[in-house]
Amino acid sequence: MAILDILHFPDPRLRTEAKPIKQVTPKVQQLVDDMFETMYKAPGIGLAATQVNVHRQVIVIDTTEDKSNPLCFINPKITQLQGDTTYDEGCLSVPSIYETIHRAEKITVEALNREGETFTLEADGLLAICIQHEIDHLKGKLFVDYLSPLKRQRIAKRLDKQNRSKAA
Ligand code: NI
Repeated sequence: MAILDILHFPDPRLRTEAKPIKQVTPKVQQLVDDMFETMYKAPGIGLAATQVNVHRQVIVIDTTEDKSNPLCFINPKITQLQGDTTYDEGCLSVPSIYETIHRAEKITVEALNREGETFTLEADGLLAICIQHEIDHLKGKLFVDYLSPLKRQRIAKRLDKQNRSKAA
């Protein structure tokens, strides 16, 4: 397994739209395993392949504190959205920024698992929020896109500075 590098906003590669996985091969399973390792190490509760510069529709999530519910979604599609809720969201690609975002409260999602089998999951609470956040990544969308342009620009400037000082 390997720890993968996470792209940081405003990196334009985060805007790439991910392509579906045609077949869940050992290489895809390796990506899933590496993504779990990267997410747990960060630590985070969700990671999309887009964030590690792999533009395929793969996300991993574990919203538990003891790493007891690892979930992998390949080619995820939300088939139902219900209600609405807010949460102070963060993102491994937008470090140290937390903002209140509106999302659907309950969702139904269809995807393939790590074995390539189709499954359907109904989710609410933090898990539903996290799934919506990660699926956005696969579309090249970030939670800061829900904020005002001015606020987003300020965050971009701040992170750009951080990225530069890290690279230097
Ligand atoms: Ni994120």
